[in-house]
Amino acid sequence: MAHDYAVTLNRDPGLDQGDERLTVVHADGRREEMRLHEYDRVYAVPGLYEEVVQRELDCRSPATLADALVGAVDRAGGDVAAIRALDFGAGNGVVGEELRARGVTGTLVAVDAATGSREAAERDRPGQYAEYVVGDLADADVPRLVARHGLTCLVGAGALGLGHVSAAAFDAAWQAFPVGSWLAITVTDDVLDPDAGDLSAYVARLRAGGHGSEVVHVERFRHRLRMSGEPIHYHALVARRVG
Ligand SMILES: C[S@@+](CC[C@H](N)C(=O)[O-])C[C@H]1O[C@@H](n2cnc3c(N)ncnc32)[C@H](O)[C@@H]1O
Repeated sequence: MAHDYAVTLNRDPGLDQGDERLTVVHADGRREEMRLHEYDRVYAVPGLYEEVVQRELDCRSPATLADALVGAVDRAGGDVAAIRALDFGAGNGVVGEELRARGVTGTLVAVDAATGSREAAERDRPGQYAEYVVGDLADADVPRLVARHGLTCLVGAGALGLGHVSAAAFDAAWQAFPVGSWLAITVTDDVLDPDAGDLSAYVARLRAGGHGSEVVHVERFRHRLRMSGEPIHYHALVARRVG
């Protein structure tokens, strides 16, 4: 897609993901420097998220997660088309688009904390989400969303770890789903260390059959490149609510 701005990445080595920065020079000469994790600013510039995250940094989380979920539902003899998912940390809708590309026709609902995320999703993927709640997952009233839209799946790419969604908010959201529902998440590498904090302890229990869940798929994959070029690895995890 052609854009009326130029973007350059700060390729300094050794930066944490949360410190990676980019500079946008707009057609009128206006210059904006932002951290990649300043999602509200990134989403405000049409095409910038795709240009930087999907193309330059070759992010594979949404596609890998959608493949893992669809594969698990298929193997269980489920109906992929009928998946009705809550996409948390949905951003401008890349995960929803990957689900649609794999035949999911059921209702998609989104939650994201970034100001402007709903407008960006509507601008970039109009009509994809039946409802889009802007706010922290902790405040999103997930039981209402599940009941209102008959949701059967909780999905989240890149939203767990690095100080994004808390373990408590994630737990409350997943507990709101009925037995038989699917969970599909990507988690940062450190979240797999059971001693690395609340979220990692939660995921460790989940993997051991806790939280009323059975984990059916775990896969390590290359999430994306750092701006300096080194790979970042995440894990994709798919589970089913059994109790
Ligand atoms: C790395 S982006 C991923 C966006 C999208 N899932 C994708 O893969 O393209 C992480 C998203 O999580 C959102 N987020 C972070 N903390 C959150 C929270 N506590 N509740 C809801 N969304 C949150 C951010 O605003 C951001 O849009």
